[in-house]
Amino acid sequence: MRLILLGPPGAGKGTQAKFICEHFHVPQISTGDMLRCAVKAGTQLGHQAKSIMDKGGLVSDDLIVGLVKERIASPDCQNGFLFDGFPRTIPQAEAIQSAGINIDAIVEISVSESIIINRITGRRIHMASGRTYHVECNPPKIPNQDDITGDPLIQREDDHEETVIRRLDEYRRLTAVLSDFYRQAANGPLFLRVDGNRSISDVTRDIMVGLSRLPTANDGH
Ligand code: AP5
Ligand code: MG
Repeated sequence: MRLILLGPPGAGKGTQAKFICEHFHVPQISTGDMLRCAVKAGTQLGHQAKSIMDKGGLVSDDLIVGLVKERIASPDCQNGFLFDGFPRTIPQAEAIQSAGINIDAIVEISVSESIIINRITGRRIHMASGRTYHVECNPPKIPNQDDITGDPLIQREDDHEETVIRRLDEYRRLTAVLSDFYRQAANGPLFLRVDGNRSISDVTRDIMVGLSRLPTANDGH
């Protein structure tokens, strides 16, 4: 089961990724989470990525493709994976194709831009796991603490309104075109477009119903 989650910043990719990965027993590969870990660890990649991420730009295709290829070579990816936030440009999508990595389904979560700012500015995350909360729509059981570990939650450094506006520009400029790229592909993957303007559970239900059409959907049980 190899899946891609597409959608603008704040669409709910990370939120839905947790449910999909749990259901299909595949790892979540979030390039954003991987880059944030590299920044926190102070690695060379982290240094290269930090200023770009803080400005709301996209990290270079070469760095990202290298990172993803290394990640999917791990044994836990043998039975599949879920890409969250990758690919983000046509060259990244082409790099997957030319590496012979076949994708079973694309799930695109569409959300109107008017609600994105509220979602992102209210977001709080658990850094180590990538678990995501929202102060109003999806609050933790105890304010500002992760439900599982009790660790303090943080706000992402790129979750300020000006940066979100730049991230949305980059999405429109470089990423939105990927829907057509996959929809028009001959013998391409199943393409699901889900209305992400509704509650988290409604969106999850639509995704699960859509993915149950895949022939491989029952393999994980
Ligand atoms: P990344 O971490 O991927 O950020 P993003 O794409 O901007 O998306 P987000 O993580 O902000 O949103 P999401 O869709 O995951 O929403 P979430 O579920 O958290 O990338 C960060 C940066 O890294 C990029 O800007 C770039 O610099 C770099 N980067 C990463 N990948 C790259 C790549 N491939 N190439 C180049 N550069 C790359 O939800 C948001 C909030 O809303 C949460 O608070 C959540 O609780 C809430 N929420 C979710 N769903 C709902 C709902 N249905 N109703 C109400 N609230 C909801
Ligand atoms: Mg995310």
